[in-house]
Amino acid sequence: MLEKATGLLRQSLVQPSGRSGVPPFMVMDVMAAAARLEAQGRRIVHMEVGQPAVGAPSSAIAAVRAALGNGAHGYTETLGIASLRRRIARAYAQWHGLDIEPERIVVTTGSSAGFMLAFLAAFAAGDRVAVALPGYPPYRHILSALGCEAVAIDTNADSRWSITGESLLAQHRIKPLKGVIAASPANPTGTMMTGDALRDLIRCAEDAGIVVISDEIYHGLDYAFTAESAARFSQETIVINSFSKYFCMTGWRIGWMVVPPALVRAIERLQQNLAISVPTLSQIAAEAAFDSRDELEAIKRGYEDNRRILVEGLPGAGLTSFLPADGAFYLYADISRFSNDSHAFAKRMLEEAGVATTPGVDFDPIHGRQFLRLCYAGSRADMHEAVARIGAWLKDGPR
Ligand SMILES: Cc1ncc(COP(=O)(O)O)c(C=O)c1O
Repeated sequence: MLEKATGLLRQSLVQPSGRSGVPPFMVMDVMAAAARLEAQGRRIVHMEVGQPAVGAPSSAIAAVRAALGNGAHGYTETLGIASLRRRIARAYAQWHGLDIEPERIVVTTGSSAGFMLAFLAAFAAGDRVAVALPGYPPYRHILSALGCEAVAIDTNADSRWSITGESLLAQHRIKPLKGVIAASPANPTGTMMTGDALRDLIRCAEDAGIVVISDEIYHGLDYAFTAESAARFSQETIVINSFSKYFCMTGWRIGWMVVPPALVRAIERLQQNLAISVPTLSQIAAEAAFDSRDELEAIKRGYEDNRRILVEGLPGAGLTSFLPADGAFYLYADISRFSNDSHAFAKRMLEEAGVATTPGVDFDPIHGRQFLRLCYAGSRADMHEAVARIGAWLKDGPR
């Protein structure tokens, strides 16, 4: 108003900082485009967003309903409600036969906050941290926003699309690394590291003084073989996990870390200042979610069916090559027979076939031009419909 009135063109005093200039998460653009088509009455099969189609398990909902009546919803201890930390520790004994002290468990606002805490606690500005390509984009973007350098390491089929001890040390020799992020099952590939591969990576990294952060957010969603926790191999590894995926609680924003004893107090101080504590109702829901094991296992079996429908159906539909779909709920398909521009290809597939997917360039700026990520967390009917639509579209030749 003032500018109009005075006719002066002033630059705003507040400008985005250099470090806020992280790239956008393109999947959100695909979601927005899909929503626009739906608003015009089009039916879209959603395979773009990586989240369960169902809500939180019934025991979580019941616990929150009960808690709403008792009025005790204030801040909690910064590291999390003690009974939840004990329950998470007990899960390591049940799932992996591991004895983890509850004092090493930190409850976080989703694993996203866990990454921020881990990076702030373990790295200084300027530190170099290795990340796999293709890989989950926020690893790179959070690191760069915090002034660290994300060092991309290309992966391939020989290493099951993961960073190996050898590829890590090769980078370390070029210029020393301070950290590395491992992810199994991984996003966007859905591939998993064998226990031996994870142990070898941790041994090589720690011998060289490199801190390992293990993203285990897709644990519980493993089909090819059982996912191994990095907590088995070292107390010095930072393990990150979440209630978002296996427990179907994305919007509750709740996760956890298993941290080396030497970092507990530093992370507590950081979380005291950054967040005070994690949302109380979400913590109550999370603790109760462990009691819905049968319900959650049934959902997992649904993903396994979906995976089979795609693995068996997509080759006949024309997508003949994809990475081993070991776990999580992603299939990373090679589209190089059709296009070298996954962004344009995904856009056309959405508009012409009505199937929303995520272009690989979100996860790997170079090779991702030839890949699409398909999320199979939807319904079985959606999977059949997606295969049929993609098949018909590719048969006619993408317009
Ligand atoms: C590999 C990976 N890590 C971490 C996250 C973050 O999840 P949240 O913050 O919901 O725990 C995601 C979300 O999609 C993911 O795919």
